[in-house]
Amino acid sequence: ISAYFNGKFVDANDPVIPIDERGHQFGDGVYEVIRIYNGKPFMLEEHVDRLYQSAYAIKLQIDPDCGALKNTMLELIRESGLINLDLYVQVTRGMASRNHLFPDCPVSVSMTVKPFRTIKIGEKGAGVTFLPDERWQNCFIKSLNLLPNILAKQSAYEKGFLEAVLVRDGKVTEGTSSNVYIVKNSSIITTPLSKHILSGITRMAVKGIAIENGIPFIEKQFTPDEMIQADEIFITSTTMEIMPIVRVEDHEINGGEVGTITRTLQEQFKERIF
Ligand code: PDD
Repeated sequence: ISAYFNGKFVDANDPVIPIDERGHQFGDGVYEVIRIYNGKPFMLEEHVDRLYQSAYAIKLQIDPDCGALKNTMLELIRESGLINLDLYVQVTRGMASRNHLFPDCPVSVSMTVKPFRTIKIGEKGAGVTFLPDERWQNCFIKSLNLLPNILAKQSAYEKGFLEAVLVRDGKVTEGTSSNVYIVKNSSIITTPLSKHILSGITRMAVKGIAIENGIPFIEKQFTPDEMIQADEIFITSTTMEIMPIVRVEDHEINGGEVGTITRTLQEQFKERIF
């Protein structure tokens, strides 16, 4: 058992999604990716809250009893037999003959699980490149529509970079699937929350760690130039955790070494998850 669809636990390869499903026809839905460490979901409440906020923003009505949804998640985790895994949860506007207008039908809920492996580059750091942020104005919604994100990620990958850092109006917004931070004079600087970025759960955790450790956490916009001049850079996401960035296009950051603040955050993050 590695998946769930509308009330049934199934195998991820089972053909369960009907053709007339708005998730794949319109990308008409929202999602979450939640990591489970040692059987314990990390910041589950925050992920569920964000799922409801995303749904609300696209006028999609999820069962207001989030307890039932959480129980299904926990049941799938148990059924999978895995203890270190990523849980993908997707809610769409349901199954109805294709028509742009909202259908009058129940939402669809699907979930999958897969084991995760800690990525080695988390120790050495990775490289990023800049690309224009061509996404819509509502990037705070964790929407299924990820075409600009995947195109940018693929193009970065083909040039040998782990992530594309997106730039809107001359300022860094976020990565295609991560939040972006620079360290300057021992302060962490990251893009402030707005409609143009996703409010990352890992970002929330990092902010908490910074505050607890007396590291200034400044939420203000910065430019690609400021990024190249930074003392340290890192990006965060549920699946990449805290990923050091030691190369921006052909510029080395901190002599190509992971910086001390990034290291401290990584160590403190590890203590929180286990
Ligand atoms: N992506 N910004 C974007 C655009 C993202 O897609 C993600 C996460 C983040 C980081 O959010 P969090 O810390 O809550 O994971 C920021 C997930 C992991 C994905 O799409 O696979």
